[in-house]
Amino acid sequence: MEERIITSLERSEDRENEALRPVKLADYIGQSRIKENLYVFIHAALSRGEALDHVLLYGPPGLGKTTLANIISAEMGVNIRTTSGPAIERPGDLAAILTSLEPRDVLFIDEIHRLSRTAEEILYSAMEDHCLDIVIGKGPSARSIRLSLAPFTLIGATTRAGQLTSPLRDRFGVINRLEFYTTDELKQIVLRASKILHIKLDEEGAIEIAKRSRGTPRVANRLLKRVTDFADFWGKEVIDFQVASLALDKLQVDPIGLDSLDLKVIEAIIKIFDGGPVGLETLAATVGEEPETLEDVVEPFLLQCGFLQRTPRGRTVTSLAYEHLGIKPSEGHWEKQQPRLFMENN
Ligand code: ADE
Repeated sequence: MEERIITSLERSEDRENEALRPVKLADYIGQSRIKENLYVFIHAALSRGEALDHVLLYGPPGLGKTTLANIISAEMGVNIRTTSGPAIERPGDLAAILTSLEPRDVLFIDEIHRLSRTAEEILYSAMEDHCLDIVIGKGPSARSIRLSLAPFTLIGATTRAGQLTSPLRDRFGVINRLEFYTTDELKQIVLRASKILHIKLDEEGAIEIAKRSRGTPRVANRLLKRVTDFADFWGKEVIDFQVASLALDKLQVDPIGLDSLDLKVIEAIIKIFDGGPVGLETLAATVGEEPETLEDVVEPFLLQCGFLQRTPRGRTVTSLAYEHLGIKPSEGHWEKQQPRLFMENN
């Protein structure tokens, strides 16, 4: 896959960003509805001296699921154990983690949709009854023993809530979908990051970076660093609108945050498939990406921008996408795409 400055997937440089991660709920910008509710649930659990109920966080990558999990454990004043669905190879791996948890600890499982079925089944009784059923031995002498676990909070994160089985999904008491951030929220996030990193960034510079960050804090903080590189190279003391916009042009991030892969997808639908509909697999093969990458990383933002639609017959682009690319649809294009709608209106 082509390296994208604007990808919302985690890159190695992002892991150096620990200093930028807010530690308290009060420092976390955006997702206000989720924040307000979590505040209530955390304080209710604290006042009862209980573990917080299990929490599922889902949404596109880079919106702060891991950050929120860490904040929850800090606010609860407990330890957090972090793992991921694909890292748990054998059910025994999960059993070992579960038995090591202390009362009210947080177990964070990223990409929980990639957990194996056997590991998932262990979670059911662990989540519901705080116990672990283990089979010892093999064949006729095999017997099952039940271990009790400390009450704990499972925080699951996924880009694909739809891929979770319903028995697992139903065991989460709190289910939150993270949304893309507004320009104003992203502006506050890059201004906060610039203070921590001692970067001189003015309000207009921050707005420009925010506007081009695909609604994603991980992208915003990464763009801030790359723009800083340009500012240093150009000998500019302060990142203002001019420095930010020139640097972002050099990074090939377009004025609303689309990058070369986003544009490639829209262009393919318009130029090769006459605006769609086109199936996901066909589209992915055309642009040379995995279908999962298109679904998890590219499409959510194009849907949010109103450039793309998912229909039962496949993906189509909207008139906004044509306008953004400065391409005129062919004569009678919209009538051809939605003949029934046009017949009903006329
Ligand atoms: N850095 C990354 N995401 C953030 C957020 N939501 N609030 C504050 N700082 C952040």
